[in-house]
Amino acid sequence: MQKLQAAVTAVGGYVPDYRLTNSELEKMVDTNDEWIRTRTGIEERRILKEEGKGSSDLGAPAVLELCEKRGISPEEIDCIICATVTPDLVFPATANIIADKVGAKNAFSFDIGAACSGFLYALTTGAAFIESGRYKKVVVVGVDKMSSIIDYSDRTTCIIFGDGAGAVLLEEDKEGNGIQDSILKSDGSGRQFLHMKAGGSVKPSTVETVLAKEHYVYQEGQAVFKFAVKGMADVSYELMQRNNLTADDIAWLVPHQANLRIIDATASRMGLPKEKVMINIQKYGNTTAGTLPLCLWEWEKKLKKGDNLILAAFGGGFTWGATWLKWAYNS
Ligand code: UT7
Repeated sequence: MQKLQAAVTAVGGYVPDYRLTNSELEKMVDTNDEWIRTRTGIEERRILKEEGKGSSDLGAPAVLELCEKRGISPEEIDCIICATVTPDLVFPATANIIADKVGAKNAFSFDIGAACSGFLYALTTGAAFIESGRYKKVVVVGVDKMSSIIDYSDRTTCIIFGDGAGAVLLEEDKEGNGIQDSILKSDGSGRQFLHMKAGGSVKPSTVETVLAKEHYVYQEGQAVFKFAVKGMADVSYELMQRNNLTADDIAWLVPHQANLRIIDATASRMGLPKEKVMINIQKYGNTTAGTLPLCLWEWEKKLKKGDNLILAAFGGGFTWGATWLKWAYNS
């Protein structure tokens, strides 16, 4: 029996209106536009400012947009998987809340936490549901409201992150397009370099943990940078090698937008020119699980049926990976 193939058949995205620029950050911490641009490539990021709004409020419009584009009702969705490290609540899952907000009454839904690689993990999981033949329409959301866990007096992290969401619909493809191969990796010993110190079961929230600012992202930037450059470039190259793909075969690299220098290193290891690399870090910064689907959302009109895309990510955990997919439609 021929293997069922899972393909992306629609993309939605959402970013909040508020733009936090480098010049505004200059007024908040000891930094400058030149440093931020040359070290990271970031010029501005979007921030969800409205009180009482969380990641589900970013994810829900992205899901509604893809339903409209595909001409389906949310009630037709079988499953919603949400990748996030900034859930609305510790529980229930943000995917449950998104399903409720969009009216996906017939979907089961759950979250995946794999930080910046979350979208790749969720995409691979969602694809397996389609490939199994059990489900017809699976929505994968990558979303983070990073501003909710960033210390805006810490210049080493506040310049990097932003808020945003992207979502894709996965359906069966009968023409051989869709997700071809994935390599996912993790190494929990890397947690010391990138984590949140309190608020989990080891160190529940107390007045002391709040005063000690332990509910914000803690990152040892240089250490993470070294692992990220190697991890993202190596895994993308490994995926090419094991599928006999050359740089000429690849139409687009869709890299996690953590740092322009990490993206450049990955593209160069793969032998890809800059024109084949999706880069929007200058506008959105690092939206964690949101970066990859936000790239697909922005580039959707340029993508052609049959295009080979390599998606690659590296993030907290450590987690990292790469996915090869053949684009399944012309918009
Ligand atoms: O997506 C999840 C995974 N995360 C990543 O992939 C992030 C990986 N890391 C990075 O992208 C980079 O390490 C950063 C962008 C976080 C930092 O860049 P860097 O080139 O590694 O800088 P650094 O930490 O080595 O700091 C260099 C200098 C230091 O000053 P001294 O000690 O040389 O005097 C810092 O204190 O830059 C200073 N510095 C800043 N200066 C102006 C650190 N942050 C800032 C800042 N503005 N915002």
